[in-house]
Amino acid sequence: MAKKATTIYSCTKCGAQFPKWIGRCSGCGAWGTITEEISGTDDRKIKPVKVDKNLLVDFKNSQITDFARLETKINEFDRVLGGGIVVGSLILLGGAPGIGKSTLVLQICHNLKTPTLYVSGEESASQIKMRIDRLNLDFSNLKFLGENNIEKIASFIIEEKPGLVIIDSIQTLYSQELPSEAGSINQVRICTVKLLEIAKRYNISIIIIGHVTKDGLVAGPKSLEHLVDAVLYLESTATDNFRLLRSAKNRFGSTSEIGIFNMTGTGLAEVINPSELFLPQNQEPNSGSVITCVMEGSRPFLLETQALVTKTLFGYPQRRASGFDSNRLQMLIAVLVKRVQIPLLNQDIHLNVTGGLKIDETGADLAVCAAIISSFKDKIIQADTILLGEVGLGGEIRPVYQIEKRIEEAQKLKFKNIICPVIKTEKKGLIMVKNLEEAIKKLF
Ligand code: TYD
Ligand code: MG
Repeated sequence: MAKKATTIYSCTKCGAQFPKWIGRCSGCGAWGTITEEISGTDDRKIKPVKVDKNLLVDFKNSQITDFARLETKINEFDRVLGGGIVVGSLILLGGAPGIGKSTLVLQICHNLKTPTLYVSGEESASQIKMRIDRLNLDFSNLKFLGENNIEKIASFIIEEKPGLVIIDSIQTLYSQELPSEAGSINQVRICTVKLLEIAKRYNISIIIIGHVTKDGLVAGPKSLEHLVDAVLYLESTATDNFRLLRSAKNRFGSTSEIGIFNMTGTGLAEVINPSELFLPQNQEPNSGSVITCVMEGSRPFLLETQALVTKTLFGYPQRRASGFDSNRLQMLIAVLVKRVQIPLLNQDIHLNVTGGLKIDETGADLAVCAAIISSFKDKIIQADTILLGEVGLGGEIRPVYQIEKRIEEAQKLKFKNIICPVIKTEKKGLIMVKNLEEAIKKLF
């Protein structure tokens, strides 16, 4: 039997429901979050409406082709997206102000050659022109629109029907349907929803630029991640001029790829051989410094891990890691103490991965252990040595995925001593070790 519509009160933060209005939600403790809602009639029976059966897709008979993609020929960008911009997709490109987002999208527009509409709410046509001149680019496919009103922008896009639209930046747009200021969460969200609708309905690819602030994400890209098809972040590395392009979400590809660029006087240049980039350049080797190889997506990267081990002066020993999981560091220290009797219990240990990269896999375990021992004993590990392998709790060295690829990269860069787990391989000149003890014997 159908019931009457009732009024309920629910918390906008935790969703708890109440029969009466209260000032503080007893569910989550937030103040002033209870709003009134009409809970509709309580009739849960489904009443069938007329539908068109042709809308059902049968995978057995239908011919669904792969997504059409716009290839920018900027390899580092295309690879991160999984092979280029999918036609009709909405992409969010986030990053700190001044990192190079506008520069990157201009270079993309230039390479694509499809008709592009560049909408900027923060820069004028002459500012964009200045950047174009600085980049030494020549455009015949680019139109500029200086506008912040999303309703007007939408009309322009529908009128022009370009292949690609750039929104620079989403924080400067506003919709006249909302009273709040441009840049507020609600404005940013409604503008994105409108752009999403245009992208899907007219099959136009749209790149939205969003500023990410240092101390978190003010009115930011984070609140949009669920709306868009792909989220890319452009970040700087510790070595200042390099930029990493990471993908945080991708409906059309993997999120494990990263792109590397170098910010030059004439825009962002692709870094083709990143392994050399993160290796120490022509400097005397120090104790505590070890080279390893990690996989970032499908690419092997050589990088340097550094450890500094010093006697603890008072209190508990400190264990700090930058670019490496500190729980894993604690575990490796415990293994070193227990399995190979390295007395680290009264030592402070600092671990650093150079170049601002983060290691989130186990393939660098052996290198980290070797770096700690090297610093503790103050003995240098030769610069032509590289260590690969996961360390188990028993001190055993285990294989890691894609090890052949890593070894290949190391050999390509002329490393002579490749210390790795015991594996079946045709590769020559490897030093295979079963456990930490054997590795230490080979190293020192
Ligand atoms: P920009 O693309 O404007 O950054 P964003 O849109 O992310 O705010 O780039 C800003 C910085 O890049 C600026 O400090 C100058 C530098 N830059 C170069 O080094 N080379 C170049 O060719 C260009 C266009 C900019
Ligand atoms: Mg900009």
